[in-house]
Amino acid sequence: MGLTVTPLDAADLPTLDAAYRIAEAARAVDEPDLPPTCRRRFEALLRHPMPGIDGRWLVARLDGEPVGWLRLHLHTLENTENASAELVVDPIHRRRGIGRALHEHGVRLLREHGGKRLVGSTAAALPGAEGPVFPGAAFAAAVGAKPANADVRRRLDVTALDRPRLAALLADARAAATGYRTVHWRDHTPDEYVADTAHLEGRLLLDAPMGELAWEQQKMDAQRKRGVERALDARGVRRYNTGAVHEASGRLVGWSQLSLEASSTEHAWQQITIVDPGHRGHRLGLLCKVANLAYALGHEPALRTVDTWNAAANDHMIAINEQLGFRPVAGSVDWQLTI
Ligand SMILES: CC(C)(COP(=O)(O)OP(=O)(O)OC[C@H]1O[C@@H](n2cnc3c(N)ncnc32)[C@H](O)[C@@H]1OP(=O)(O)O)[C@@H](O)C(=O)NCCC(=O)NCCS
Repeated sequence: MGLTVTPLDAADLPTLDAAYRIAEAARAVDEPDLPPTCRRRFEALLRHPMPGIDGRWLVARLDGEPVGWLRLHLHTLENTENASAELVVDPIHRRRGIGRALHEHGVRLLREHGGKRLVGSTAAALPGAEGPVFPGAAFAAAVGAKPANADVRRRLDVTALDRPRLAALLADARAAATGYRTVHWRDHTPDEYVADTAHLEGRLLLDAPMGELAWEQQKMDAQRKRGVERALDARGVRRYNTGAVHEASGRLVGWSQLSLEASSTEHAWQQITIVDPGHRGHRLGLLCKVANLAYALGHEPALRTVDTWNAAANDHMIAINEQLGFRPVAGSVDWQLTI
């Protein structure tokens, strides 16, 4: 029978389970310090894609048994010539051409949709550090992709938090932020702030360095933002948010979000933190992030670890994270292949 590559049928639960087990086996080998892959999120990516994502999953089988998969996200609202790719081969079946076969099917599928670029991330050593060969990086280079952006994952050990120092940082930030007040919310943005958070999220890429990636900013509006929230609800993601409201105008001009996956009480992701350019220089970024961490900790007593990603070149955000106690633990590279 040999090697076959076919689309994943969403009704085929045994194959979805096998794909999940492959993801988890790969995570344990490739990024063992990350928490286990959340099963609910994994399935929701298939059944409840984000607005603007047309997800295509391909499964590779060896003699009928699933051994790897490729998830292609075609973008329908912006970046319509780009596809984001996640490619995983079961660690016990690597170096047998399965990755390459999935990749070639993906390139064909993208061509049929008029796409021009594939973008994917691989684990890497920290910038400047010597590391082992990372299979994903070796593979990406072998298929002709170019490294386009370097990211660093930083980790906060909550058990070693310097709480007095954080309280002092928060007090300093509040003193610098006269004329602004903080507001907190959980999963769903209050109606009065949904347009402001959509505006902030939509302009994020103008500020976050993207290296050589050919990537447009998202066309985010209140309606799409609600769609994002529904997709996150389907994944069971718990979100903690803190915003900074400019008291004179009532506008929400700063925002930070931290989230936990359905499968985890110990691990969180520090997500977006952004301040509107017209309101920078008042320590609102630090204020939102520190206040939000305190807010989340108040509801998540088991939380031990927070991870966050930043472009290696994002000096300003990195400085804030270092002040909070985040320290570099891993690198990643975004690869771009023009097909
Ligand atoms: C990357 C990955 C999908 C490759 O799957 P695979 O089935 O082993 O890949 P292939 O056998 O088709 O390898 C194709 C070529 O990539 C290169 N390559 C792949 N793994 C490599 C490794 N560990 N060391 C060096 N080169 C490697 C080789 O040039 C290889 O050709 P060769 O075996 O003829 O020398 C797999 O290692 C994996 O799942 N990694 C973790 C997830 C990941 O990083 N995915 C992102 C990929 S963009």
